[in-house]
Amino acid sequence: PTNFFNEKYRPQYHFTPMKNWMNDPNGMVYFQGEYHLFYQYHPESTVWGPMHWGHAVSSDMIHWEHLPIALFPDEIGFIFSGSVVVDPCDSTGFFNGGEGLVAIFTHAGEHPVTRKPRQVQSLAYSKDKGRTWTKYEGNPVLEEPAIADFRDPKVIWYEEERKWIMVLAAGNHVRFYSSNDMKSWDFESAFGKTEGSHQGVWECPDLFSLPIDGVHRWVLIVSIGDDPAYHEGSRTQYFVGDFNGKTFMNDNDPDVVLWLDFGRDNYAGVTWSDVPKEDGRRLFIGWMSNWKYANHVPTSTWRSAMTLPRSLSLTSTSEGTRLVQKPVHEVSVLREPVTSIKRTITLVPDENLLKDIKSKTFELKASFTIKEAAVFGLKVHQSNEEETIIGFNSQRSVLYVDRRKSGDLGFHDAFSCVQEMAVLEKEHVSLHIFVDKSSVEVFVNEGKQVLTSLIFPKEESDGIELFLDQGVVDLHSLDVFNYHSIWTK
Ligand code: FRU
Repeated sequence: PTNFFNEKYRPQYHFTPMKNWMNDPNGMVYFQGEYHLFYQYHPESTVWGPMHWGHAVSSDMIHWEHLPIALFPDEIGFIFSGSVVVDPCDSTGFFNGGEGLVAIFTHAGEHPVTRKPRQVQSLAYSKDKGRTWTKYEGNPVLEEPAIADFRDPKVIWYEEERKWIMVLAAGNHVRFYSSNDMKSWDFESAFGKTEGSHQGVWECPDLFSLPIDGVHRWVLIVSIGDDPAYHEGSRTQYFVGDFNGKTFMNDNDPDVVLWLDFGRDNYAGVTWSDVPKEDGRRLFIGWMSNWKYANHVPTSTWRSAMTLPRSLSLTSTSEGTRLVQKPVHEVSVLREPVTSIKRTITLVPDENLLKDIKSKTFELKASFTIKEAAVFGLKVHQSNEEETIIGFNSQRSVLYVDRRKSGDLGFHDAFSCVQEMAVLEKEHVSLHIFVDKSSVEVFVNEGKQVLTSLIFPKEESDGIELFLDQGVVDLHSLDVFNYHSIWTK
C-alpha cells in the first residue's frame, strides 16, 4: 500500500509511533514469546506534553505491532519513564499466586497539599500479557520529598539475595533501593555525585551484569539531559564496576567518562528485562533523538524513532573494560543482497565502486586495511547537493559522521555538525552501517565504537559513494543489503 508509513523522512525499519510524539523507550520486557516496547508518548500532538505509555509488541524486535496506549496520566500525575518486570512468584500479591507483569514508573505531578511539583514512583500491573493495566491503589510507593528530580526507576531481580533492586535518577546521582514486594522500598546507597559526566541532569539509569573473562562485571547506564551550556545536548554514559546488592563500586577513576554512543542521537536507552537465560543476550534500545532539538525535527505526522535494537557485551581494551554494541542478528531478516565483493581491491580516488547502487534504506558491511595514512569512507543519501559522510581519518584515528550537508538543517542551530569518535585500532577498520530514511548508525570494529545520527535528506538523495581522499587503502570485503519497510510485506 502506498502512503502507509511512507511520509517524507519516515524510517522504514526503525520503530516509530503511528502518529504524534514519542521519547524514551520504557518498560521493555520479554514475556511469553513477546518483546514489549512501551514508550513516552503524547497522543495529542507532535511535541512533548502530558506523558502516557505507548505500547507495541514484537516477536523479533524488528517487526512491531502497535497496541493501544497502556498507561494514561491520572490524578497523581503524568506517566514518566520506568520499567516492567515479570513477577514470576507473585511477590507483589497482584496475581493470586500466579505470574504477571509489573510496571514501575514515575508519576510526575503536584503534591496534593502543597501543590509543589513532585516526582514519585508508582506501580501498575497486568494479568493479560500487558494488554490492560491496573494501577496499584497504594500509589505512590516511593517518595523522597527533598529531591526534585527523582525519576525513571529501573527494577531488576537481584538473585544473590533474592530481592528486587531499583535504581533511579536523582538529579546529580543515582540511588539504589531494595524490596521484597515492590510496594515498600528501603534505601541502600547513592552513587555518582562526583563520578562521570555532570553536563546535564541524570536520567534513565539501568543496571545489569555481563560476563567477561570468566567473571561478571556490572554496568550502570546513566543518561544526561540537555544543558544549554553544552552543544552536544543529551547523551548517555555508562560505568563499569561491581554491585553487591547495596552499593555500586566504579572500576574507573571518578573523572573517567565512558560514552555509550558518540553520535548525537541515542538517548535514554535501557535494556530488556527477563530475556530467557538460554538466549543470554542483554538487549538494548535507545531513543534516536536529542533533547536539544527533538521537538523541532522536520517530520510531519509523527516525531522520533528508536535506534535499532542492539546486543550489549563487554570487551577488554588497553584502557579497561568497555561496552560493545552490535545490532541484533534478527535484523538480517530484512536483507536483500545487492552487491558482495569478496576480494582485495586497492581503492582509487574518484572511482566509486558503488556508483550503480541507489538506496535510502540499507545495511553495508565493509573491512579495510590502511596501508598509508588515509582519509576514506562512505557517502550516503547522496545527490548533487546533499551527502552524509561517514569517514575515517587514520592519521587522527578518528571516525566521523559529517551531517553538515545531509539535508534539512534549518530547524535548529545545533543540528549541523561533524560528530567524531576516537578509534583505537587504526590499521584494520571494519564498518557496519545501517542507513534509514532519516538516520545512520555506524558500528566500528565489531561494535567497539558506535555512532548514531539523525539526518533529513531529500527523497532524491539516494546515491552511495565509497571514497578515498588521501592515502592507500585496501578494501577486503564489502556487502550491501537493501532493506524493505517493516510496515508492508
Ligand atoms: C528522559 C526524560 C525522563 C523522563 C521523561 C519524560 O528523556 O526526561 O527523565 O522520565 O523523559 O518524558
